[in-house]
Amino acid sequence: MQANIKEVKGQKAFRIARSKEFECYSMSDVYRKISAETNIDFTTVIEFLDCMPTFLNGQAHKERRAQQARTYADRRRTATHRCKAHISSVVGDLKSHWGGYDVLNQLARPLWLVMAEELLPIGISYKPEMDILPDLFLAHTPLTRRKKCEAFLKELTAYHGYDSLTDIALVTLGARPFVNALSTSVYVLAKRNHGKTFAEIEYPSYLPMPGLSYLHRVAASEDPLVDPTIQKGMHFKCVIHDDTYPEEVIAKNQFGVGAHVCIGRQIALAAWRSLCSELSEIDKRIAPGEIEIVSAAPFENVVTCCIEVGSD
Ligand code: HEM
Repeated sequence: MQANIKEVKGQKAFRIARSKEFECYSMSDVYRKISAETNIDFTTVIEFLDCMPTFLNGQAHKERRAQQARTYADRRRTATHRCKAHISSVVGDLKSHWGGYDVLNQLARPLWLVMAEELLPIGISYKPEMDILPDLFLAHTPLTRRKKCEAFLKELTAYHGYDSLTDIALVTLGARPFVNALSTSVYVLAKRNHGKTFAEIEYPSYLPMPGLSYLHRVAASEDPLVDPTIQKGMHFKCVIHDDTYPEEVIAKNQFGVGAHVCIGRQIALAAWRSLCSELSEIDKRIAPGEIEIVSAAPFENVVTCCIEVGSD
């Protein structure tokens, strides 16, 4: 949503993303501005975005992060267990499958629903409208969709109270990175191992494709990193995933760096590793199918993602 944003790569990107002299971008301020300009009520959206550690700094960040980390710690074990069982069942079906396989709709999205349902506190169930909440972060989301989010969040808080927003924010932050990274990573396995059997693939322990390719930071002090090219208030797009980066750099940083490192890292990696282990049991050949990705910063949203499964 910030037009004037400078892209930085490599060590400089990681230094900026990790540094306390740079802050995260306040997404709720964007809605305060839209609200002031249009007179549209975004009170609940603003409240919701102020529950998201990824858009907060200082004490507010610490408090929200701690609250989400508690929910996550309570739910992670059960959620991981359910995800593994689900993966086993889905890959079981894949063993008897031939031809095109829709990785996005048969594997990644259903797995996310299982995970999200388990990560939400008991009493709150996953609702289809939750799928559109990450659109609140995008620059080109139509106003009607943003208003729909406000109405949905109002309805939710009327029923579950304002405290529920922090837990819903946890799964909202995980949704797109998880589905996008998981589906494109399976696709990349198919591309890199075209014609091999699943059993012959050397599976990486990290996700080869990103959930988020960059982190947004704003210079918060007068002389950050003692770098004369940086002035207070400058916006940076810190690239954490790039084809030119060595594999170990991608593996190490794909869940972010510093104080804002991803809360869902363990469960996302557990799901990926469990998926790889199950896939390695399949004695069929893999090839890439159709793929369509729409760039909608900060996401690379996967619209179609298919592989081909077959024999010789
Ligand atoms: C493959 C899947 C995932 C990837 C690649 C990923 C990536 C990231 C990255 C790069 C950040 C840092 C953002 C920043 O510094 O500005 C982040 C933060 C975050 N992620 Fe994930 N994520 C994934 C899955 C999840 C899941 C499943 C959850 C929910 C359980 C989750 C919850 C969060 C939260 C709450 C934050 C904000 C942490 C903070 O600002 O303190 N993520 N994620």
